[in-house]
Amino acid sequence: MFLLNRGKAIVLSCASISQASYYTTAKRLDENYTHFGYKTVKTEEKAGRVLDVFSSVASKYDMMNDVMSGGLHRLWKDRMIQKLNPDNKAVLLDCAGGTGDIAFRFVNYVERQHSQFTDHPNVTVCDINNDILEVGKSRALERGVSLNWVCSNAEELPFPDQSFTCYTIAFGIRNCTNISKVLQEAYRVLRPGGRFVCLEFSHVSNPILSKIYDTYSFQVIPVMGEVIAGDWNSYQYLVESIRKFPAADEFKQMISNVGFKVVAYEPLTFGTCAIHSGFRLK
Ligand SMILES: C[S@@+](CC[C@H](N)C(=O)[O-])C[C@H]1O[C@@H](n2cnc3c(N)ncnc32)[C@H](O)[C@@H]1O
Repeated sequence: MFLLNRGKAIVLSCASISQASYYTTAKRLDENYTHFGYKTVKTEEKAGRVLDVFSSVASKYDMMNDVMSGGLHRLWKDRMIQKLNPDNKAVLLDCAGGTGDIAFRFVNYVERQHSQFTDHPNVTVCDINNDILEVGKSRALERGVSLNWVCSNAEELPFPDQSFTCYTIAFGIRNCTNISKVLQEAYRVLRPGGRFVCLEFSHVSNPILSKIYDTYSFQVIPVMGEVIAGDWNSYQYLVESIRKFPAADEFKQMISNVGFKVVAYEPLTFGTCAIHSGFRLK
């Protein structure tokens, strides 16, 4: 969990928790149907609906992240990069990379840690949504950071096998239609020794905190979405999609199933998020 101490973020691990009560496994869908938030939709429709959500929020996306999380998403993302701890030879694929938040942090980290030795870090941001990539490209121009930008579905990556040493995905995988395919692709494009790190919303186990979190999620976030971004539905989808994402232990098992080793996760901020990680060993 994150605590703040005189302006410094301190990261403590919470106990690993099972949150089965949140994840609705009761209704097993056949492969022709999937979840889009709490709605059941045809599998082939989900990616288009997710595209619409992120096109709709693209211009306000960064500001809404700060408002909704009270700035906490910055600490979570910093922790993700700290955990990845890339060296100066790292070649990163940031999947579902959106407006480049993870990529910028990665570049800063490598340049800070290895200032004498490194060329400009090799970073590719991949996202299915061109509108959101365009916002990222403008941010990169303003910052004078050079990154590769690729528009593609995380389930079918346009990269050869073993192209990267690090694969990150932050708040992206729960939006994908087939999570196992995303994980298989992550494994395929990583070199042996490469690291997978995923930051994603998770589930709060403490019953009192979870009530407060639910109230905030369902009563406040869509209202903020409407007032600030003029878009209730996208933010309603956001909170529903979080509830539909597998519990941390279940997701950990999915990561192991595709071949990753030393698979682990670290809950953050009472379990609202978790950083999942694993290695491709051979
Ligand atoms: C909540 S945003 C996260 C963006 C960024 N990683 C961050 O943490 O700020 C989710 C992103 O996932 C992207 N996305 C959704 N489905 C995807 C897919 N199947 N393949 C690639 N990107 C996808 C969306 O377009 C969106 O930019």
